[in-house]
Amino acid sequence: MADLDDIRDGDNFGLNSPADTSKFYLKGMNSMSWGVKNRMARIFNRTSGRTVMLAFDHGFLMGPTSGLERIDLNIAPLAEHADCLMGCRGTIRTMIPPENTQPVCLRADTGTTILTEMNHNVLLGEDEMISMNASALAAMIAIGDDATEAKTIANFSRLVDIGNRYDIPVMCVTAVGKDMARDARYFGLASRVGAENGASIVKTYYTEGFENVVAATPVPVVIAGGKKLPEIEALEMAHKAIECGAAGVDMGRNVFQSEAPIAMIKAVSGVVHDGLKPAEALELFETLKNEA
Ligand code: 5RP
Repeated sequence: MADLDDIRDGDNFGLNSPADTSKFYLKGMNSMSWGVKNRMARIFNRTSGRTVMLAFDHGFLMGPTSGLERIDLNIAPLAEHADCLMGCRGTIRTMIPPENTQPVCLRADTGTTILTEMNHNVLLGEDEMISMNASALAAMIAIGDDATEAKTIANFSRLVDIGNRYDIPVMCVTAVGKDMARDARYFGLASRVGAENGASIVKTYYTEGFENVVAATPVPVVIAGGKKLPEIEALEMAHKAIECGAAGVDMGRNVFQSEAPIAMIKAVSGVVHDGLKPAEALELFETLKNEA
């Protein structure tokens, strides 16, 4: 029951402090809902405006690939050093401790494996996405693939409908078509298609001319690492992507297949958040590796 005899008139309206109408700190997010912005702010560091996402979703296509044989041993210890964990429901539920408070980007599509033709044409149920406490949802589009392009774009659009219903941002994972040139034209097209279809984050691959890919994609762009490279090359790639305007990385193999994964994710973070040059980041990697 309200205390009707003690209704105090407000007397501190901050008349000299206008409401903050400055823009939200992430590209393309200004007109998004409170829920989307809040989830994006869990994923993207508010000082740097960038993120180091750790991708370990590979197993649903590839099985227990190198570095992911035991997610409880290989990935769980890395979790606290990542800004966001990108994985599948089965591995997160069974092998990432629930005490972990890092935001989750849930891989929300599934389909076939590398043993057949990959098509990714099924989405998880909405209730699963909510119950996994997802801060973002991810699905792949296969641009330029005759057999699956239409299916995967339709699938992705449906995921955006779901994300919009619950204010959960959706990340578009741009697959590399088998016959596609890995260049800025192709990745620019794929990234733009993802954004046009409602992505709040686009994950694609670094390539020459990447500044055009980023410029033509109206939401934050993060890069996949791709196949394992020597540490210095992976750090150089991350650095070049950031210089071109990328909002971070969603890196898997170049972290968990490194000889020192914790040292590597910290070195990548140094590049993404602290502006380390590749040589400085490599030095950090070597120091941390030798301390371990
Ligand atoms: C293609 C992907 C995977 O989701 C994976 O996250 C790739 O990560 P990396 O290339 O850094 O190992 O993008 O399904």
